[in-house]
Amino acid sequence: MTKHIKISDFLKQHLQGEHGVALNAILSDVVDACKKIAVAIDKGAVAGNMGSLGSENVQGEVQKALDVITNDIFVEACQRSGYVAGMVSEELVDVIDVADEHKKNGDYLLMFDPLDGSSNVNVNISVGTIFSILKSASKKPDLADYLQSGAAQICAGYALYGTSTMLVFTTGNGVNGFTLDADSNEFLLTHPNMQIAKETQEFAINMSNYRFWREPVQRYIDECLQGEEGDRKKDFNMRWVASMVAEVHRILVRGGVFMYPTDTKSRSGKLRLMYEANPMSFIVEQAGGASTTGSQRILEVQPSGIHQRVPVMMGCKSEIDRIAAYHQVTA
Ligand code: AHG
Ligand code: MN
Ligand code: MN
Ligand code: MN
Repeated sequence: MTKHIKISDFLKQHLQGEHGVALNAILSDVVDACKKIAVAIDKGAVAGNMGSLGSENVQGEVQKALDVITNDIFVEACQRSGYVAGMVSEELVDVIDVADEHKKNGDYLLMFDPLDGSSNVNVNISVGTIFSILKSASKKPDLADYLQSGAAQICAGYALYGTSTMLVFTTGNGVNGFTLDADSNEFLLTHPNMQIAKETQEFAINMSNYRFWREPVQRYIDECLQGEEGDRKKDFNMRWVASMVAEVHRILVRGGVFMYPTDTKSRSGKLRLMYEANPMSFIVEQAGGASTTGSQRILEVQPSGIHQRVPVMMGCKSEIDRIAAYHQVTA
C-alpha cells in the first residue's frame, strides 16, 4: 500500500514564508473542525440532526439543525489558534469578533460556509464545508477589513463529506487533496497537484431556471444540448448535485463547468462571494481553470457586503472563456 503523507506533515513542509506559522496553526484547527463535522453529519439521522429549525438565516433560508451544529463546531475550533481575529459565517448575520483571550497574535480573518449543500443532508447526498482566509490590516478588524477582493486570499479550501471525506486546499502554490483515513483518523495526501482537464463535455447547472437566464447563458446551454449536430460538434453530459463543493470537486477530478448565473429571480445570483465564490474561484484558478461572473473575474470583484451574492461560472478555462465571450457580445 502506498505510504501517504499526513496533512500535518504536509503543512509543516509546505507552509513557509510570511504566513507559514499562522496558516499551520489555523489549518490545524480547520482540520479538527472538519473531522468533528464529518462525525456530526455521519450521526445525523441517529442523533436526530437531520431536520430543519424554525429559524431563518440572513440569507432568508430555513436553517437545518446541521447548519447550526456545523457552524458552532467551526467557530469553537477555529478560534483556538490565536491567529484568527474575526470570522464570517453564512449562518451568522454579523462578523464574529474573536474574544481577546483567544487572540494572541490574531490578525487573520476566516470566512466560511459550515455546511454547503445543506438541502442534501436528509437525502444522504454529498455536502461540504468551504473556508477562505484573509490577512487583516488590524488586530481589531472592522467590516472594511473583511471586504477584500478574492485575489487577496492567502488560503482557500473545502471539506467534502462524500463517499469519502476529503479536504482540498490551496495557499497559492497549486491545489492538494487529502482523504480522511478512518483507521488513523488522519487526512492523507491522495490527490497532489490537482489540475482541471483542458477540455470537457460536462456541465453543471440547475436547468429548471432556464427561462430566467440571460441570453448568453441560454445560448451556451443550447449549444451544449445540440450535441454533435450543433455548433459545438460534440455531445455533452449534465450533472447537478445541488452542492457546490461536490460539483467543484468533480470538476477538479474530471473536468467540466459549474454555473449558477444571474437570473431574473435573483439578479445577483444565488451564491455568496466571501465564502463560496471566492474560495472556490481561488482553488479553480490554482488548478488551471477560470471563474467569472460573466462580466468580470470573480477574484477581482470588490465586495460591498459580507453576505453579498454573485453570479458564478467556473471550471474548464476554454469553456469559461467561451461563456465570458458570449457575455461580452451582449454587454
Ligand atoms: P448552502 O447549502 O450552503 O446554502 O449552499 C447551497 C448552494 C450550493 O451549494 C449549490 O450549488 C446551490 O445552492 C444549489 O442551488 P439549488 O438548490 O437552487 O439547485
Ligand atoms: Mn444555506
Ligand atoms: Mn453553500
Ligand atoms: Mn451553507
